[in-house]
Amino acid sequence: MQSKNSNIRFLIIMAMHDEAKPLINAMKLNEQGRINPNYTIEHYSGQTSGHTIDLIVNGRCSVYNVDQIGTQVSTLCAHLGIEKFNPNIVINAGTAGGFNSDNATIGDVYLSYPAINYHDRRINIPDFKEYGIGQYPAYNCSTITKALGLRTGIVTTGNSLDYTEQDMAMIKSYNGVVKDMEAAAIAWVAQQHSIPFLAIKSKTDIVDGEHPTEREFLQNLHIASENLARQAVKVIDWLTKEGI
Ligand code: ADE
Repeated sequence: MQSKNSNIRFLIIMAMHDEAKPLINAMKLNEQGRINPNYTIEHYSGQTSGHTIDLIVNGRCSVYNVDQIGTQVSTLCAHLGIEKFNPNIVINAGTAGGFNSDNATIGDVYLSYPAINYHDRRINIPDFKEYGIGQYPAYNCSTITKALGLRTGIVTTGNSLDYTEQDMAMIKSYNGVVKDMEAAAIAWVAQQHSIPFLAIKSKTDIVDGEHPTEREFLQNLHIASENLARQAVKVIDWLTKEGI
């Protein structure tokens, strides 16, 4: 537990610029440029009530001219960010798919608890099966969720926006309710450094709903990112007051 009034260093990791913009604006963060000349990862920083915020965004792929998403860049981003900023907590803020079976609606914001898993690392050999799923621990946010009225659930990560039947069977087997493409990779790096990890995810689409995911995602990205910023500010504010 961080003592309540000392300077907490928050490292916030985000995949897409459009997801990050509302939070960067809400927290009045300043653009600082790339954190490493070889990678596109961009840094924004600021202060809140005497605490330090470092927010990094994966940046754009120079070959395909799209935001870099998924676990490959997220692992690297988390490693470089942790080494550079030595944070007290790592937060992955972003968007995700939700489930009708969990009564999720577009724009709902969830916090990761109790774990972050992978759903597309199938290794059917004793012990490797569990290794593939990961089950990385999440920061115990039960008091925050009660105070702010947010929902919690298992975040489930893979490298595809859609899913295979096997992915879905895996997600159901551990009751995953927040489907994303980054959290488990970042959670693993945070675990290696023994730093608490929390994911804050806003729903852009309903995975088991009737609409194509890619259409719903694009339609709802703006509103979900606005909700994400609103709730992420409250979560950070709560942590600055109550400690980690
Ligand atoms: N990000 C937003 N929606 C998603 C989904 N359905 N799957 C994976 N990542 C997502």
